[in-house]
Amino acid sequence: MEELKVLIEEERIQKKVEEIAKKIEKDYEGKEITLICILKGSTFFTVDLAKKINNNVKIEFIQVSSYGASTVSKGIELKLDLKESIENKDVIIVEDIIDTGRTLSYLIEHLKDRNPKSLKLCTLLDKPERRVYDVKVDYVGFEIPDKFVVGYGLDYDEIYRNLPYIAYIGE
Ligand code: IMP
Ligand code: MG
Repeated sequence: MEELKVLIEEERIQKKVEEIAKKIEKDYEGKEITLICILKGSTFFTVDLAKKINNNVKIEFIQVSSYGASTVSKGIELKLDLKESIENKDVIIVEDIIDTGRTLSYLIEHLKDRNPKSLKLCTLLDKPERRVYDVKVDYVGFEIPDKFVVGYGLDYDEIYRNLPYIAYIGE
């Protein structure tokens, strides 16, 4: 088993989620919000965030898988699509981490075509050093260094998602 080093403790994550929820409440006063959770990584974040937002909140799921280093449209496969229409809805895409930005660039293009009333992006973690595709993020939890992280939904070969904190795999 690899040695894990804690990067962001559970308490700091929960405080940050609360902060983001309050910002969202302010920006969407009196409006219904549709959160789009990107499976599987952003499930923990989406659920905690939804619990802290006082608006009416709907949750939808989408799953993409990326393979190889290719162009945005070629390197990404839609594995599970939304089950409900987002037409005329105020939508926030909830992501666990933005690395190169490829997943989100693809999803934004894909979801814009469905004519939501508004479309914003929220990510818990951001690795700005790694960015290849330019994406405008509306809500960011933490900017982190270029390290591979696990926990709070993020996995390494499908394990470690259930850690309540975020850690990196130490050398
Ligand atoms: P992007 O398309 O390069 O921005 O990559 C985003 C996706 O890669 C995320 O949704 C994660 O699933 C995965 N990913 C990127 N960095 C990490 C990491 O440090 N730990 C675990 N998964 C990661
Ligand atoms: Mg992911």
